[in-house]
Parts: sequence; structure tokens; C-alpha cells
Amino acid sequence: MDALHRRFSGVLHYLATALPNGPVYDWIVSRIREEGLPEIQISAEQGHLLSLLVRLMGARNVLEIGTLAGYSTVWLARALPPGGRVITLEANARHAEVARATFERAGVSDRVELRLGPALEALARLDGRVRFDLVFIDADKANNRAYFDWARRHVRGGGLIVVDNVLAGGRVGAAESSAYGQAVQGFNEYVFGECAECSAVIPFYRADRSALDGMLLFLVPEGTERIDP
Ligand code: SAH
Ligand code: DHB
Ligand code: MG
Repeated sequence: MDALHRRFSGVLHYLATALPNGPVYDWIVSRIREEGLPEIQISAEQGHLLSLLVRLMGARNVLEIGTLAGYSTVWLARALPPGGRVITLEANARHAEVARATFERAGVSDRVELRLGPALEALARLDGRVRFDLVFIDADKANNRAYFDWARRHVRGGGLIVVDNVLAGGRVGAAESSAYGQAVQGFNEYVFGECAECSAVIPFYRADRSALDGMLLFLVPEGTERIDP
């Protein structure tokens, strides 16, 4: 536990206990642990934010890249209006199997469509045929730029692109530079360069409280959508 974490342990405990999540979210985390999956789902604080964003926007068509056990998917799906849908992309068959059970348990199977396989291939199949209100990018970070460019061509004006882990678990910034940190910084600069006033970064602790990380919000400005005809 680092000094920052020690300093804020009271606040973290407060956050974890004061803002109720609903039992299904704790159940999903326990499934992640039982199945030995990596505990890299978004935090409950991030889940609350995603849920509010979906509801603020009245988003009906949501795409998620990187499902894991479906923790973030359930936050997104439960915030949808009637008739809304989430498509979620996952390359790992075991993760997908755990996620499908999650969707049954959370009662969102009717609203969630999981597509198993590498996300770039799934996106190629969706190309030009769909448009989304919100895209949440949270898979292999090396492809973030490809995912962002795809989202840029499929999110409506006034829609939102959300990217997890843009502080690379604390590895961005000069003090602890690493190849991964630099790659994430390069991606962030690419997005900020496209439209700084459309971008915001919100720092969050990771769900396992192991590090500080962040979520990037990019608002697609009205009139700048690049939807393929
Ligand atoms: N969004 C989830 C966490 C996703 S973790 C949550 O917050 O609950 C990242 C996931 O992306 C992992 O399950 C991993 O298997 C998946 N992944 C990694 N590379 C991928 C790719 N190329 N295509 C699709 N999924 C991928
Ligand atoms: C990792 C991936 C994530 O999406 C995340 O939120 C935290 C960690 C990882 O691959 O280590
Ligand atoms: Mg993540």
C-alpha cells in the first residue's frame, strides 16, 4: 500500500460503504475471485458514473469493448431505458462464459449481446451498419487508438466515448516512466489533440485499490460526427 493509499484509506472505506451498489455487483466480484479471473473490473465509483452518464444521455445503443465478467456491462445495462441495448465484445471464451452467467443473474440478458472474439474483428463486422450513443473502451490498451478511431466513426454527434485506464495505474507522468505509461500518454495526447475541450479525465482508484488510474470522457461534438454513409 503506497503513502497516498494509506493517507486516503478512510475515504476509500467511506466510499465503499456509504454509496450502496446493490448485491449483484458484489456477487460478480466474488465470481471473478472464485474463477481466478484478473480483478481488473472498474470500481463501483466508476460504475455509478457510467450509470449516470447513460441516464443523462438517455443512451439506447451502447457498445463495450472488453467484458471480463460483465461487471461494467451490468452497470451500463441497468441504466438503459426500455428497449435499450448493450453490445459487449470479449476475446476470452472463459471470461465470456462467466459474463453470460452474470447477465442471467443480473436479469439483463434480454438487453445485452455478447460477441465472442477479437474486438477488431467484431468491429469490422459492425462497420458502417450501426451507430452508438456511447462506446466504453476497456480491453487491450495497445489497440486503444484503433478502438477510438472506430468509435469516432460510429458515435453520433453529442455522443460519448469513454476510455478506462488512461492513467495507466499511475504509470503516466515523468516520475515512473515505462513503455506502457508512455504508450498510454501517447494515446491520451492523440485524443486531447483531436479536441481538448471535448475531453475530461477523472482519476479513480482501481477496484482492488492497488493503484490510481483514470477514466477519459470524450464528447463527440455535434456536427463533427464521422459516421460512414
Ligand atoms: N470492462 C470490464 C473489464 C474488462 S478487462 C469491467 O470493468 O468489468 C479487459 C477485458 O478485455 C478482458 O476480459 C480481456 O480478455 C479482454 N480483451 C483483451 N484483448 C481483447 C481483444 N483484442 N478483443 C476483445 N477483448 C479483449
Ligand atoms: C488492467 C486492465 C484494466 O482494464 C484495468 O482496469 C486494470 C488493469 C491490466 O491489464 O492490468
Ligand atoms: Mg479497465
